[in-house]
Amino acid sequence: MTFVKVADESEIPEGGMITVRAKSVRIALAKVDGEIFAFEDVCTHDNGSLSGGSINHGCVVCPRHGARFDLKTGEVKQLPATEGIEIFEVRISEGNIEVNL
Ligand code: FES
Repeated sequence: MTFVKVADESEIPEGGMITVRAKSVRIALAKVDGEIFAFEDVCTHDNGSLSGGSINHGCVVCPRHGARFDLKTGEVKQLPATEGIEIFEVRISEGNIEVNL
């Protein structure tokens, strides 16, 4: 695993999400209270694009059927998904967002 630069910190609005691609993985980046979270942009229920959803109480909410996943742990917080998502480690280096892939 290595840290890969995926975006500038300023590209993500507070409370928003963007999508990037690195090492053939589509990654969603979310900013909540100034903290950046990175996870694969695929819902485990039926492959919905999580970055098209919303952020609510520390969770990302899938836009297709409403499954919720904890942004810190990837754990499922609401059905219909039953399997968690992978959360990637993030570090900020001189305003660059780097993700451990
Ligand atoms: S595809 Fe995400 S809840 Fe169904």
